[in-house]
Amino acid sequence: MVTASAPGKVYLFGEHAVVYGEPAVPCAIERRATVTVDRRDDARLRVESADLHISGFTVEYDAVGGTAPDVDAPTPLLEAATGYVDAAIEQARDAADAPDAGFDVHVESEIPLGGGLGSSAAVVVATIAAATAALGVDVEDREIAERAYRAESAVQDGEASRADTFCSTMGGAVRVAGDDCRTLGNPDLPFVVGYDGGAGDTGELVAGVRALRDEYDFAADTVSAIGDVVRRGETLIADAADDPTEETLEELGALMNFNHGLLEALGVSSRSLDEMVWAAREAGAAGAKLTGAGGGGCIVALDAGEGTETALDLTPTCEDVFRAELATEGVRVE
Ligand code: PMV
Repeated sequence: MVTASAPGKVYLFGEHAVVYGEPAVPCAIERRATVTVDRRDDARLRVESADLHISGFTVEYDAVGGTAPDVDAPTPLLEAATGYVDAAIEQARDAADAPDAGFDVHVESEIPLGGGLGSSAAVVVATIAAATAALGVDVEDREIAERAYRAESAVQDGEASRADTFCSTMGGAVRVAGDDCRTLGNPDLPFVVGYDGGAGDTGELVAGVRALRDEYDFAADTVSAIGDVVRRGETLIADAADDPTEETLEELGALMNFNHGLLEALGVSSRSLDEMVWAAREAGAAGAKLTGAGGGGCIVALDAGEGTETALDLTPTCEDVFRAELATEGVRVE
């Protein structure tokens, strides 16, 4: 039996634009997915997912490796989550040259599912790490990240970027542009996350941005402008090293606000996300923006004080609020 865990993430900058090769800066946060695998004598795969952060339901199913899970899932999201495990196990089998390896897989996650905190990437990364370790192969972090990207792409029809999977594997702040993936160290950024209890449909939201970008030059310019915001932001992070000054936090916050405005222009925000963003800003956060695909789910604010948490707590659309520490460690076998 082997257990591995991997962190979720917030996007400091750059979601959606990263799909078109612009840079993005996600930061890993101390909310982890933990996956335990146990070798079976046969080639079957049995996945048990507990506590996926939506009212604590549990599902169990059997699936023969390589086929889509035949599961009467309570929600489409849960169905998607089990699909991610399937794709991750395929990658582990491939890495170990063990196409018939069967597993019992148990998934636990502290990361809201589909809410823009990289829940699926964390599950995929942890599953690959646990299953390859159980098969006795030593896979380097960069290979885990690449295989996790392939697994996510397979489930998401090729529209995934490497940002979530690379960040979850490496931990800390990272910079991803196309297949150029780098670590940026561990900047001490005071993140507060607000969660509206919902989730956007990543595929639909990505397709919506693509359609706008194809139709209007100014939408394409908006995507490029997000890239410019990210380039400025990553310089600030590099200059600040791991200890940003008050001034740096102020400017990073202003850039987050700008980034959110551009995402809103691209149609991927929502009323509940905007309400949380404005509540955080009015409470004195240096900046706030949606994180991830949008449409619903989470916002991230930058704030060292208590005011933002209280204000979000009082916001009707906000279901959960928490302080998110940077996860300096990425994937690890427990
Ligand atoms: O909502 P998340 O955490 O799955 O992030 C999606 C981010 C996008 O840029 C919209 C898509 C991607 O794969 O990068």
